[in-house]
Amino acid sequence: MTPGTSPGGLERYAVAARRATAGDDCSCSESPALFGRGHYGGVDELDDLPAAASRSSMGCGNPVAVVDLEPGDTVLDLGSGGGLDVLLSARRVGPGGFVYGIDATGEMIELARRNAAEAGVTNVEFLHGDITRTPLPDASVDVVISNCVIVLAHDKHAVLSEIARVLRPGGRVGISDIVSVDPAATSLAPVDCADTASSVERYEDDLRRVGFVLVKIVLTDPLGGGLSNAIVQAIKPAVTIRPMRASDWPQVRDIYAAGIATGNATFETSAPSWEGWDRTHLPDHRLVATADDIVIGWAALSPVSDRCAYAGVAENSIYVHPDQRGRHVGTTLLDALVAEAERAGYWTIQTGIFPENTASIAVHERAGFRVIGRRERIGQLDGVWRDTLLLERRSKRL
Ligand SMILES: C[S@@+](CC[C@H](N)C(=O)[O-])C[C@H]1O[C@@H](n2cnc3c(N)ncnc32)[C@H](O)[C@@H]1O
Repeated sequence: MTPGTSPGGLERYAVAARRATAGDDCSCSESPALFGRGHYGGVDELDDLPAAASRSSMGCGNPVAVVDLEPGDTVLDLGSGGGLDVLLSARRVGPGGFVYGIDATGEMIELARRNAAEAGVTNVEFLHGDITRTPLPDASVDVVISNCVIVLAHDKHAVLSEIARVLRPGGRVGISDIVSVDPAATSLAPVDCADTASSVERYEDDLRRVGFVLVKIVLTDPLGGGLSNAIVQAIKPAVTIRPMRASDWPQVRDIYAAGIATGNATFETSAPSWEGWDRTHLPDHRLVATADDIVIGWAALSPVSDRCAYAGVAENSIYVHPDQRGRHVGTTLLDALVAEAERAGYWTIQTGIFPENTASIAVHERAGFRVIGRRERIGQLDGVWRDTLLLERRSKRL
């Protein structure tokens, strides 16, 4: 096994597991409010679990509180330590669900197994292994949790790719972790993981790069020394994104027509021909979202001007089949389109949206667009003057 965390780095967890077994607390900080069981105030189930499980808690949050666990869910806890979060999750998913914990420290695995046996919890399994190589099949879990572990990994991409691999489409991520908020101050950090802590922007980018959507990182407790505890949430999309083909046009046109029929998507009153649509959209930036090989949404860029100064400015269109709303299709498509546009050097994407189309505004705001202004009575649709909101997204990379 080649752990994502150096063997020397793991030794302290072996020591902590021995201390917890011997009856000591093993939180890695002087401050119980910032690490360990201080995060579990109000969690009644704690009283029913073995004392060694909460004594061995070394986390920086309570991931079970940041993600909804449903009865029957399969959950994976990365870096499960003494097993507290696994045991709490096992209660939430009930007898029809199952919870795996994985940890690279053998002593922690032994402690967690003892804690589970003492608690009489049977719908759990603790696996000795490394979170960069999870011994679980593809698409086999509904939720991944983790508490103060990913910060330790040198190869974050490997860890996040593994999370994306083992999650089922639609799967959820709820992580408590430490992030860097001021790299210049980390020499004063109160914990020794400052050199491997990601910034919020980097963490969000890394999650998006392996395909997550609805990525959200919220800072919780400042730790000092340029670090902060944080909650990290994300969703694995339930759809596949791929480039649009000419043969997709009949489905793309039908989705376009369904958008037109709402009266809140566009000033257009009928879907164009393929030739007309093809002529006005950039050939390399057309995506479709599919589920079971059926196109359920599309997104594309059009040029805004042929003047050189605006070479990196494009306008986006995005349409989702009305039956598919609520599956994060729009967010998944738009995140993919934005990533592709940035790779191609576009620094601004703009779009006009009717103010009544609040769902589309929310999808764009989640993707980093902001409202620039309102164009009042800018055009007529079916004889009625309508306003539009002008939204734009400026790349932070370009
Ligand atoms: C700070 S403790 C947190 C433990 C537990 N999540 C909790 O909240 O108490 C970090 C844990 O991650 C484990 N760990 C560190 N790097 C790991 C890796 N690459 N793969 C698996 N486990 C790892 C350590 O053995 C340790 O148990």
